Amino acid sequence: IPPKLYGPARLNSKGMDLTQSAVRERLADAQAAFDADAPYPCGPIINGEALTDWGAPMTSPADEGFQVATLHESTEDDVERAYKAARDAQPGWNAKGGPARAKILRDMADSLEANTDRLLALMARETGKTLLDGVAEVREAVDFLRYYAVEAETKFGEPVRLPGPAGETNHLGLGGRGVFVCISPWNFPLAIFTGQVAAALAAGNSVLAKPAEQSPLIAFEAVKLYLEAGLPEGVLHLIPGDGKIGAALTGLPGVDGVAFTGSTDVARIINRTLAAKDGPIVPLIAETGGLNGLFVDTSALHEQVIDDAILSAFGSAGQRCSALRLLLIPDEIGDHLIEGLKGAMDMLKLGDPADASTDIGPVIDADAYAMLESHVERMASEAKVLHRAPLSDELAAKGRFFSPALVEITSMDQLTDEKFGPIMHVLRYKRSELETVARQLADKGYGLTLGVHSRLDRFAERVRAIVPAGNCYVNRNITGAVVGVQPFGGEGLSGTGPKAGGPHYIYRFASEHTVTINV
Ligand code: NAD
Ligand code: ALA
Repeated sequence: IPPKLYGPARLNSKGMDLTQSAVRERLADAQAAFDADAPYPCGPIINGEALTDWGAPMTSPADEGFQVATLHESTEDDVERAYKAARDAQPGWNAKGGPARAKILRDMADSLEANTDRLLALMARETGKTLLDGVAEVREAVDFLRYYAVEAETKFGEPVRLPGPAGETNHLGLGGRGVFVCISPWNFPLAIFTGQVAAALAAGNSVLAKPAEQSPLIAFEAVKLYLEAGLPEGVLHLIPGDGKIGAALTGLPGVDGVAFTGSTDVARIINRTLAAKDGPIVPLIAETGGLNGLFVDTSALHEQVIDDAILSAFGSAGQRCSALRLLLIPDEIGDHLIEGLKGAMDMLKLGDPADASTDIGPVIDADAYAMLESHVERMASEAKVLHRAPLSDELAAKGRFFSPALVEITSMDQLTDEKFGPIMHVLRYKRSELETVARQLADKGYGLTLGVHSRLDRFAERVRAIVPAGNCYVNRNITGAVVGVQPFGGEGLSGTGPKAGGPHYIYRFASEHTVTINV
């Protein structure tokens, strides 16, 4: 008898087999069609009205000569207007009830899925997403919508009846908190943008959504699809812009909740803004960065360690909060594993993200590139750069394709904070020092992902007992959490703890009301 699985049953998002030439040709056609019509105007969408009459040019990280979009940045007036509209629309949306909201969320999911090819083309140009990553991204967004649809249906329907003395009825119901501000990063420009919005809407809130300044077009296109799919115009407003607009949104006096995904530093700023406000105490959901380790012991399968470490550190150009930053290997097998890692790095192909054979695309912008090169330079003097993946002169000249780096450190002090890109640090440890190095990693204060490669349960237990992590993966890669399967989120410097795509996440967006009637 199979064990009873916890969590709602839902339709799976559709996969795509990129090894099929027919699929690759179809995607190449979609890319050509997208490229032919670029640049695309984008801007705020307030009450269903898109503001795109003027805009600053935005170029592609993969090719500075390619203009992807023109962005009409939001103003503080737009923020005020959107807030008023969201406030007016929220009671009606909340009163619709969970099942009616669920139907709309499912229609939004279907609409995204039907437009997958175009969205892949868009993300390849706007954020340099490879096709493989793009497919996973659209699927995650679709999964979030369908997952939270079931949550809305099952948890936000009729209030539950509670016990009480004779003559008294007690009910507990869930509803939206009001107006939620959702602020998302560029590295999951569709999935995280959609996941935050979907959870907030499912619970009965209206939403002011701010995508990252690097990725407004994908959010703009998604919101247009959501409105076409039947989402009422007043309940979701798109407010693209930079950190100043983010600050204007979180500073609004009437905001009822903030969902933020991004860096730990910005989460702190938002936390301070909310704490300094007079009036109601505003909850913050923060999902932030990680300094993620993978501990290997001598019983691990070497080829599997190498495959999983390469994918975890360099997949998505290392631009995942979950990515591997530090591989901890026992002295006895250190040389062998390092030689294997170098060989695997030589097989990586950097290039055009829209080409299905590309493993690694560009990093997001010139600042990210400069920060990563400066870290590698520092490591070359303070530690040792063991290897770089091959990079053609032509790509190197673009200044955005960062050759993945393998760096050996000899002390945990050499690793200070998250470096968001394809740099894998390795640290050799003596078996007698396992607890010490685990504690040193824990002392960095993060708690997002953790990997263990070992055939011994006891080894994984020893590491887990010391290193905090919202998501621990044993004998596999440490990236790519699946909605409803690996609810995702960290603690400490990595976030306030909620698990996106898990059964408790939606409660963070809800308020609960108990009604007692004495008859
Ligand atoms: P970021 O913190 O620079 O920006 C995130 C968002 O915050 C953007 O929309 C930005 O415009 C906005 N912002 C900036 N300043 C603001 C302010 N003062 N007030 C309000 N909003 C403001 O992060 P990023 O570079 O876009 O994303 C990368 C970071 O995100 C990495 O640290 C990564 O680990 C983290 N991340 C975490 C998760 C997770 O689930 N834990 C997922 C993806 C990315
Ligand atoms: N949820 C994303 C992952 O697991 C960040 O890689």
